[in-house]
Amino acid sequence: METLTGIKITKTKHSKLDEADFSNLEFGKYTSDHMLVADFYHGQWSDAQIVPFANLSMSPTALCLHYGQTVFEGMKAFRMKDGRVNIFRIDKHHERFNRSLRRMCMAEIPYEIFEEGMKELVTLDKSWVPDADGSSLYIRPFMYASEAKFGVKPSDEYRFIIFTGPVGQLFPKPVKMKVEREYIRAAKGGTGSTKCGGNYGGAMYPTKLAREEGYDNVIWTDAGEHEFIEESGAMNLMFVINGKLLTPPNSDSILDGVTRDSLMIIAKDMGIDYEERPVSVNEIKDAFKKGAITEAYAVGTAAVASPIGVIGIDGENYQLPPVNESGIVFQMKKKLDAIRCGTAEDINNWNTIVG
Ligand code: COI
Repeated sequence: METLTGIKITKTKHSKLDEADFSNLEFGKYTSDHMLVADFYHGQWSDAQIVPFANLSMSPTALCLHYGQTVFEGMKAFRMKDGRVNIFRIDKHHERFNRSLRRMCMAEIPYEIFEEGMKELVTLDKSWVPDADGSSLYIRPFMYASEAKFGVKPSDEYRFIIFTGPVGQLFPKPVKMKVEREYIRAAKGGTGSTKCGGNYGGAMYPTKLAREEGYDNVIWTDAGEHEFIEESGAMNLMFVINGKLLTPPNSDSILDGVTRDSLMIIAKDMGIDYEERPVSVNEIKDAFKKGAITEAYAVGTAAVASPIGVIGIDGENYQLPPVNESGIVFQMKKKLDAIRCGTAEDINNWNTIVG
């Protein structure tokens, strides 16, 4: 079968839909029935195809396995209140994906393959989009260097894939974060602003150490002085101090989060007083001592906006007040949810409704 956009579809003969427990959607556990695949070779992208979700075959010399040329995106589709399905901010994710690919010296993906492929894939698997509050269909576009050659060089061949899977709320309760002063996630001039696989692999050991100390995750600090707050785990950060919304500015060591960007636009639209500026660990510590910090949130596609309950700084744990539904970030998140499920107007054209 071929779609109107010319994408060839081979449908699965065995849907896994009945095997998924939609009442317990652990993040990353389930994948939907199909995936989109396109290959880059001889300097060109092949036609994209939709095929049943399946294992991949590759040479042990495939360059991605050795030198880390892999990039991914994290996106979501939502079940709207009227039952239709909405993919959130395709263009912004596509732009960031290509920015990451450029930095990793990989082939860029044309918008048509990314957008049309995703729309067709999500439409085909739309019965996988959950409808419970806080749940969504997670969309994972990614690319890897597929050339079979172990010389150290940028690959001449790439494979682009999109798969999806239903997910629930990532953090059901406020999280406990440790300010990391020894290890770093990214340095100036590095790859911190990209979604390359290595950024996530490099975070795992310090995160494991923090978990052994009873924390859920780490808050990364800058590589130079370990004093300025960058991100938390794989998410951006927002604080409310003295009634003002604060978030560290984007830089080449911070990921330009789409949820962060959306929430800042919502803050502007709602007339909320905010500042994008460097936030130091000392400022946070001082704000705790004065009772001036009222909210701290980790924000990202998977987490949306998850409240932080405790921040550990140099061995001392500081407690945030309980989540208040009239709080600034809570209200912004409510607005974001309403836009995505169609109960608030999409004034910024973020939604792509696929039926
Ligand atoms: C996301 O929030 O989508 C991320 O990319 C973080 C993570 C699940 C790797």
